[in-house]
Amino acid sequence: MMTECSLEDIDGVGPATARKLREAGFVSIESLAVATAFEISEATGIGYDTALKISQAARELVKIDLVTADEVLKRRQQAQKITTGSKALDALLGGGIETQAITELVGEFGTGKTQLCHTLCVTVQLPKDKGGLEAGALFIDTEGTFRPERIVQIARKHRLEAEKALKNIIYARVYNSDHQVLLVDKAWEICSQHPIRLIIVDSLTSQFRGEYLGREALALRQQRLNGHVHKLLKLAEALNLAVVVTNQVVANPGQFFGDPNKPAGGNVVAHASTYRLFLRKGKENTRVACLFDAPHLPYGEASFLVGEGGVVDSPGSESS
Ligand SMILES: Nc1ncnc2c1ncn2[C@@H]1O[C@H](COP(=O)(O)OP(=O)(O)OP(=O)(O)O)[C@@H](O)[C@H]1O
Ligand SMILES: [Mg+2]
Repeated sequence: MMTECSLEDIDGVGPATARKLREAGFVSIESLAVATAFEISEATGIGYDTALKISQAARELVKIDLVTADEVLKRRQQAQKITTGSKALDALLGGGIETQAITELVGEFGTGKTQLCHTLCVTVQLPKDKGGLEAGALFIDTEGTFRPERIVQIARKHRLEAEKALKNIIYARVYNSDHQVLLVDKAWEICSQHPIRLIIVDSLTSQFRGEYLGREALALRQQRLNGHVHKLLKLAEALNLAVVVTNQVVANPGQFFGDPNKPAGGNVVAHASTYRLFLRKGKENTRVACLFDAPHLPYGEASFLVGEGGVVDSPGSESS
């Protein structure tokens, strides 16, 4: 999904500047087009004014500056869907997990967030007529709950060769929020080397919540989380890939009415997510998903099952 142009095609970028940019992780025109001049200048040592010219020139090359509405429509029409493994859940989502967007999976422990992430890493690899994008996934694991054994089982269910399915998933274990932020910067490079159309961050918020404790740290945490999710959104839009993040619900003791549990990360995460899918446990092994805050989809619910083959339809389920 990257342009065929190289950094040297940007006006004013010669081999030396291109090398500096690449060393700092700006490996593609897209990565420069969505970066601020300040970010480019900080990371490369290139002066601010030059960095500003470079980012403007990059934006013109990939045409993400001013466009007419029909071009916006054209770009939107390039958005694709990845099947979740459940027809009912796909229907709720308007066809599946969408590219050019962030889908946030919210729920208490054990509601199937990580299981759905595993399933998507496999289904993104399926042929297009089976609901996939014939592409790979980048799995950023902040909780240590990724299990390749599950990938093998889910791949079998979808009749994919397990060995190949494993090779198409790039895995990164993250131990702190700085590393998590850095990996998303590095994702531009990873996506230029591998045909990745899905980025998972499981979980988006846990490292941040563990590190920034107390009221004094809250503003800084939200500021950093904000930068992080917006970088993810830029990746999704510029590279036409799907970003799926998970988020736990936290007790909100200040609230006496309505749901006392709400997603971590507050408004920062809520505003950046294009789709918020709330998951809860249903009867036996079923899970119920409900969609909030979708820009053009009605509110609704769907039930599905988490089994050995990952997310599948529950018998007799239908979306409502
Ligand atoms: N191999 C399997 N076969 C059937 N069901 C499974 C299998 N593995 C996991 N599950 C189901 O998935 C549940 C765990 O879900 P998951 O790990 O996705 O939760 P989560 O929402 O990510 O929770 P957390 O917030 O703790 O990360 C288990 O309780 C079980 O019901
Ligand atoms: Mg989990």
